[in-house]
Amino acid sequence: MSPTRFVLDCDTGSDDAIAILAAASHPGLEPVAITTVGGNVALADVTANTLSVLGLVGADVPVYSGADRPYLRPDLPIPRDVLNKDSAFQLSRLGFGEPVSTARAEHAVDFLTRFYGDAASADAALVATGPLTNVALALTAEPGLAERIPRLVLMGGAHANGNVTAAAEFNFWADPEAAQVVLTAGIREVVIVPLDATHSAPLSERDCEVFERIGTPAAAGVAMLLRHRLEHDRAAAGSAPVHDPMCVAYLVRPDLFTEQVEASVSVETIGERTLGELLVDTRPWRSEPSNATVALRASTAVYRDFLRTAFAAG
Ligand code: BDR
Ligand code: CA
Repeated sequence: MSPTRFVLDCDTGSDDAIAILAAASHPGLEPVAITTVGGNVALADVTANTLSVLGLVGADVPVYSGADRPYLRPDLPIPRDVLNKDSAFQLSRLGFGEPVSTARAEHAVDFLTRFYGDAASADAALVATGPLTNVALALTAEPGLAERIPRLVLMGGAHANGNVTAAAEFNFWADPEAAQVVLTAGIREVVIVPLDATHSAPLSERDCEVFERIGTPAAAGVAMLLRHRLEHDRAAAGSAPVHDPMCVAYLVRPDLFTEQVEASVSVETIGERTLGELLVDTRPWRSEPSNATVALRASTAVYRDFLRTAFAAG
């Protein structure tokens, strides 16, 4: 069976980096391009991190640098340097050395509109693991694009508590207007992987040890990133959620999610205390039709199996 082709739009970031390593290493996956967006860290660091992670495993995947500020807002709702002021969790650089390659000259938004405008790309999913700025800009520049993206799998939102605020998860909070544009654009199949799913299948020190024993450059890199998450994640107590790789895992392991709902989803763009909140309307009498599948729980066993398959091969 030929590998599943997809474009990854990300804000690398340690869990995005694990998603890239899994994507580049898993025999069932073929990342055709990576587009970068400002999010976890500033765009220049996101792009450098992405290139150095690819360099670690010698993966020849073209990288296109994209938006360095949100869709409408001049900055994140709270600027990044204020938000991350006392946090050792967000590293602006991931420690894999300076990149040995460079990003392509084409802007990520131009790449996305060109790529999905081509009938030969009709099979390629779009996976988004950062703020949805690039995707929203591409859909705005080319409204017909929504019909040409066969499937969007994204990490964002929370049905229960968020992580930046009680209501909002980081990716949706960082660019709520972009998230709202993307969710309501009419893309045929949208799968949302919110915090509810990622927190239900956390990884632990035991996983670090497994990856260290595998010992390939990808597995050793993942062990290092995972250990940093375990040491610095505020919620970690012997285990920590590793959000973004779940989206790429789902492409080859549709059995990853053990509970999911079809819902009419939207994102709060105005609320003083709820900015960036994902609204998941499952009421039988709702007026809007369902526009997404929202994963609520994941299987740790399936997630581990996916990661071990990826890194044993990498
Ligand atoms: C999301 O925000 C970022 O910190 C992570 O990379 C992930 O995409 C989790 O809220
Ligand atoms: Ca991310």
